[in-house]
Amino acid sequence: MAGKTIVVANWKMKPATFRDAKKLFDATKKVAEKCPKVSLIVAPPSLYLHEIASKYRGKRISFGVQNAHAELSGAFTGEISLAQAKDAGAQYALVGHSERRAAGETNEETGKKVAAALAQKITPILCIGERERVSGGEHFSIIAEQLRAGLADVLPAKISKVIVGYEPVWAIGGETTMSPREMHSMSIFIRKTIVGIYGDIGHSTKILYGASVGEKNVLAMLREGNVRGFIVGHVSTDPERFATLLKVIQNED
Ligand code: PGA
Repeated sequence: MAGKTIVVANWKMKPATFRDAKKLFDATKKVAEKCPKVSLIVAPPSLYLHEIASKYRGKRISFGVQNAHAELSGAFTGEISLAQAKDAGAQYALVGHSERRAAGETNEETGKKVAAALAQKITPILCIGERERVSGGEHFSIIAEQLRAGLADVLPAKISKVIVGYEPVWAIGGETTMSPREMHSMSIFIRKTIVGIYGDIGHSTKILYGASVGEKNVLAMLREGNVRGFIVGHVSTDPERFATLLKVIQNED
């Protein structure tokens, strides 16, 4: 595969204390040093981001936020802006994660966040994925719509700066990924949709897979899934499992 494998460690709302977050980051940092084939993006709870990112002296890890508001500032109690995220050390932002969509985020809001991230020179990781699979291929139209709305305000010159993370919601949080073969065709569908909107430049957008990625299934997905990397949730907060996962990628030939 050309280029490094991208791994996004989505810590979600864990760990419960900064002390534990620091321990988790120290363990993550240690293994990242030994895995130059991996481009690691750690997305901790935003409350911990500045302290962790500002003390990090290495080169292997970049940082991201799990969500942010599309407006730059204002009366939005409880929110953080992309400008604040950037100031705290984020170079990436997950946008439209299914857990945000489940909490009410619309396709349109997701699109605004993607554009706002690009305006801040933060790389948006646009998360898309159907909630369930029913017969009839309905998920393809859901994915196409999420892509169209998510990219609505992205100019052709910026499409190479967007990362798309396909996360089938029905597969999140378990131990089994979608089949790599199915991901392969989903990846082709996503690519076709982006190229359909943007033309050839759409080939530059990186596509990731997320949902139950772990040390036992990552290799098959890497070899057969037609993806540039992964979004890893619960396994990224388990230091031993995450270390094994990164080493599996590192040792792949
Ligand atoms: P999971 O989460 O790895 O726990 O399935 C992935 C995600 O929701 O980003």
